[in-house]
Amino acid sequence: MTRRFALIGTGFFAQNHLHAWAEMDDVELVAVCDIDASRAAAAAAQFGGRAYTDARELFAAESLDFVDIATTPPTHRMMVELAAEHGVPPICQKPLAWEMADARAMVEACERTGIPFMVHENFRFQLPMRRIKALLEDGAIGRPFFGRVSFRTAHDVYSAQPWLVDSERMIIVDVAVHLFDLAMCFMGEPQSLVTEALRVNSRIVGEDVATVLMRMDDATCIVDASYETRSDHNTYPQTFVTLEGTEGAITLGPDYRLQVISRGRVLNETLEIPDHGWTSVPWNAIQDSVYTTQRHWLHCLDTGEEPETSGRRTLRLLDVTLGAYASLESGDRYVVGSMS
Ligand SMILES: NC(=O)c1ccc[n+]([C@@H]2O[C@H](COP(=O)([O-])OP(=O)(O)OC[C@H]3O[C@@H](n4cnc5c(N)ncnc54)[C@H](O)[C@@H]3O)[C@@H](O)[C@H]2O)c1
Repeated sequence: MTRRFALIGTGFFAQNHLHAWAEMDDVELVAVCDIDASRAAAAAAQFGGRAYTDARELFAAESLDFVDIATTPPTHRMMVELAAEHGVPPICQKPLAWEMADARAMVEACERTGIPFMVHENFRFQLPMRRIKALLEDGAIGRPFFGRVSFRTAHDVYSAQPWLVDSERMIIVDVAVHLFDLAMCFMGEPQSLVTEALRVNSRIVGEDVATVLMRMDDATCIVDASYETRSDHNTYPQTFVTLEGTEGAITLGPDYRLQVISRGRVLNETLEIPDHGWTSVPWNAIQDSVYTTQRHWLHCLDTGEEPETSGRRTLRLLDVTLGAYASLESGDRYVVGSMS
């Protein structure tokens, strides 16, 4: 079966979505939409489909099996509600929303219509992260009791994404959200968390350095992110992971070097990231994860399985993410679940 779909928001990151969809022979791009007419036209010219500048017109005119929403967060709710109104299952970029009420409204709109809804939360779909998850499920390190998930770079994220300069909430919703998702994927849900954050770059409005300490049942996990780290190696956009368990440890370091210590045995490996032709270093692991994320969505549409990162499940992730700001603002520990 070939699924007909549209993509809304043909900006910076959507180029990866478009390339990944173009690789698949079980989907057909029938329309693209962007309020910037030249961007919509360029995407249609390169990837196919009719170009729209108004999502309402697109939904009214096209018959779709799903829609891919890659606009920035302020329009996510409107787009998901529009999709639900038309009975079209949406996959929507992260962060789902900047407010819990918006996220809840999106989930409820899809549940009312009875359509699947997935958040494009792609970091857990990176090849090294799938590998780590499988190792944990195999019990390679026993019960994890400590974790660290870290993303630190001095890469200029603002030239490709100028909207980040004015975002009042920045690195926590932009990148720590992915790291929280990884921490929860590896170690389960936290009960509480404490945040410290700073703005180092005075040119921007929000925070660009953040450290969050999460407390799980029997474990702690540090999530730390920075866009101002001038270290001796440029590892953008790689995420580093440390996990310590009762039977061993897992370390994912620079350039996808994975070390697994399991019951005294040491395994060192450099992971190979698949090349898709359109992918390139240094973005390749992220780009490959876009492909895998999108394939997961199609698998869920085929089987009726709930996506790993469904809208409903993402409410918990958003609670943690927005809870990080609540802790920052109050100076207190945030009890997870207070918002969701
Ligand atoms: N998962 C990842 O690894 C990753 C990486 C980068 C960005 N993102 C996410 O992708 C999303 C987009 O970010 P970006 O940096 O590509 O932004 P962008 O500004 O480059 O692209 C967004 C596009 O949406 C269009 N748009 C805005 N409002 C619209 C509307 N009402 N109708 C139609 N089009 C509209 C804009 O004109 C723009 O072209 C964000 O949610 C961001 O957090 C995810």
